[in-house]
Amino acid sequence: MTKPPPWGANPKAGYPDRDRIYQVDNIKLNRKCLRHYFAREVHTQSYSLFPSPSDHFCARQPMQQFLLENTSAYRQWRARKLRNYPAQTEQLIVDIQNPCRLTQEEKGSLLRLCEKTNLAIYRIRYGDVLDKSIVAAIAKQLGLTHMDANFHADRDRISSIQVLPEGPGSSYIPYTNKLLNWHTDGYYNQDAQRIRAFLMHCVRPAESGGENTYLDPEILYILLRDHDPGHIEALMDPEAMTIPPNPENSERPNLETTGPVFVIDGPTQTLYTRYTARTRNIHWKDSQACARARSALQEILDDNPYRFHHRLQSGEGVICNNVLHNRTMFIDKPRSRRLLYRARFYERVARPDLANDMRHTDDVVAE
Ligand SMILES: [Fe+2]
Repeated sequence: MTKPPPWGANPKAGYPDRDRIYQVDNIKLNRKCLRHYFAREVHTQSYSLFPSPSDHFCARQPMQQFLLENTSAYRQWRARKLRNYPAQTEQLIVDIQNPCRLTQEEKGSLLRLCEKTNLAIYRIRYGDVLDKSIVAAIAKQLGLTHMDANFHADRDRISSIQVLPEGPGSSYIPYTNKLLNWHTDGYYNQDAQRIRAFLMHCVRPAESGGENTYLDPEILYILLRDHDPGHIEALMDPEAMTIPPNPENSERPNLETTGPVFVIDGPTQTLYTRYTARTRNIHWKDSQACARARSALQEILDDNPYRFHHRLQSGEGVICNNVLHNRTMFIDKPRSRRLLYRARFYERVARPDLANDMRHTDDVVAE
């Protein structure tokens, strides 16, 4: 079920007027805003995962800050977002006693962190960290239930990420010990399969290396917009990034995927980011604005004070709203391979309507 745009159910029959202001759910939008608001959402997205389509365009209007035209909403949101933003990875770590029964305090801490930084790290104090059911158990307690079934996932849809010595997938970078460049998960997915969250649980670290660096996509948005709002416009272009079909790589659907880097995600009304730093098998829009934006984006990824570095230890896991991340190369122990369990989800961890305001702590804990 989809919601028709205000200019009519058939987009070809009634494209929005250049000079007209449209009223959508108590929000006034010109044609440019409408393009972002409805881009690739209304006509392509299945809302079947979510119970009430009308709630997706909620009255709280959390996406206003991402519209370039609304500078006051952006400034207010930016100030809230950066206020008390964690400076150290240690601030993201939550100790948990029993992953299958999180206490209200543990759950509240994980949710609060994901609201603030889109990222949290749990550390299981006791118990069997080999048990794969931990992954689904923790996720379920944080509202994540719809798992993506991807290439090399096991029957339970959870992937065992380790070096594959030979056979299918052994040359696919996540299953090697090579460096993994900056990306968001599922950047090649169609819109209806957006990966909004993932959980990565470490059973065994490597002997050395295998460290991850994470960057909250909302911070990336802020740094780019502060540098030049034109970068945001270029990266919100619905034709910014195209992933061609690649039948040799089963990880990706055999369909071309074209879309923006930043998009306002209709069902959750939050910023959704799809990005890969890879240079092969990707086509970027051929424009100066896009090239400048990509260059600025890469510079920010390479060096900014908001990045979090962490090497997952046995019993630790990262849970996040699909933040940007990379991985250094690693060396395995002789007879004990690095092993991580990874689950990808169509939901987000945190409630989007709380808009990253840490003052809503009580609401979250009481949920
Ligand atoms: Fe990844």
